[in-house]
Amino acid sequence: MVEGAAKDEATTEAAEAEPAVTEPAPAKPAALPVPVEMPLLRIEAVVKKFGSFRAVDGVSLDIRPGEFFALLGPSGCGKTTLLRMLAGFESPDEGRILLSGRDIAHVLPHRRPINMMFQSYALFPHLSVRDNIAFGLKRAGLMRSDIDARVAEMVGLVKLGGLEKRRPDQLSGGQKQRVALARSLALRPQVLLLDEPLAALDKKLRESTQLELMELQRRLGMTFIIVTHDQEEAMTMASRIGVMDAGRLDQVASPRQVYEAPASRWIAEFIGDINLFDGQVTSREDHRIVVATRDAGTIVAAEPRQPVTRTTLAVAIRPEKVKLSRRGPAPDSAHAHAINRLEGVVTDVSYLGGTTTYKVKLDSGAVVRSSMANTARLDTDAYGLSQRVVAWFTPDDCMVLEQ
Ligand SMILES: Nc1ncnc2c1ncn2[C@@H]1O[C@H](COP(=O)(O)OP(=O)(O)O)[C@@H](O)[C@H]1O
Ligand SMILES: [Mg+2]
Repeated sequence: MVEGAAKDEATTEAAEAEPAVTEPAPAKPAALPVPVEMPLLRIEAVVKKFGSFRAVDGVSLDIRPGEFFALLGPSGCGKTTLLRMLAGFESPDEGRILLSGRDIAHVLPHRRPINMMFQSYALFPHLSVRDNIAFGLKRAGLMRSDIDARVAEMVGLVKLGGLEKRRPDQLSGGQKQRVALARSLALRPQVLLLDEPLAALDKKLRESTQLELMELQRRLGMTFIIVTHDQEEAMTMASRIGVMDAGRLDQVASPRQVYEAPASRWIAEFIGDINLFDGQVTSREDHRIVVATRDAGTIVAAEPRQPVTRTTLAVAIRPEKVKLSRRGPAPDSAHAHAINRLEGVVTDVSYLGGTTTYKVKLDSGAVVRSSMANTARLDTDAYGLSQRVVAWFTPDDCMVLEQ
């Protein structure tokens, strides 16, 4: 019974996952040349409601040809729903989706040159690896010899040689993932949508598969949109990241910008570790703002590129930017920018191999986290429990968050 249900589910999903059929070449004269600047995909103010709940709430986004784009956000924020609309399994309640400038609202999923690899892989349990990969090719009416050639190419591409006759239940998690990938690539879609493709793999395998996917995407020159809730994965793989929360796209930027210049406090906390101090701007001078914080006294921060307009804001510093020192940095020219100095006591030391993170409790009771690279082989950590230290950072280390 359970098996039957699983099979049904896999079959429906696999039917949905059926690779896109490229439309026959138009008999009419070729379409107007596409301007170079035109995005491959344009998502315009798209809304998807389930009842009165807005699962996707006004998302606009341009995807460039050949791009590796990551949608990053917590579970339930609408990532899968957005992908399903791109693939054509859901239609937007508002807004438009354009492919090379053309509205694809009425193009059926299998007619879109966009394919989706499902989080569950959705393999046909009763079909061999070969037949799983060949499924969409058969549906598209390719000739037997062409199908054989394409399957062989895909098997080589995802390194499944020798496993062609096995069924999914005779494969490891990583191998199933490769079959799903091969199947979704077999019809050479223009855009591949990958919904949490690596979530089921263990850490080592996930990391090596990330590199393989990047290599594959570059080699095929295809456009990949990957969905993940893992920020490191998004940062490793993608050239741009869209951070989603509660149906909205909060920031679209490079991994570095998202990490070093998050658009909001929420993003700063969602992406990586952060020290946050709320405060009031008391003065500004010479591209710097002075902020009186409740927990860390006065902090001098570099004025961000977008001039600050609010007086109540937060200053955020990543732990790896916070340096520790026994008596504070030496008052020499090399440390002229070590303006922010917070005194406290080490209350926690976590040795993580490549780095050690320290928690320093300030006199206010607030805790500052510092992360230091272990660049030398030492028997002990640089600072011990109960030690008094100065945690310091420069104005440029500070991010100013107005919302
Ligand atoms: N078919 C559906 N009917 C009702 N609610 C749905 C449906 N699909 C998704 N949702 C809801 O929409 C929200 C976004 O879901 P989803 O796009 O799957 O999120 P994510 O992929 O980011 O985890 C969730 O709250 C989910 O429960
Ligand atoms: Mg999802």
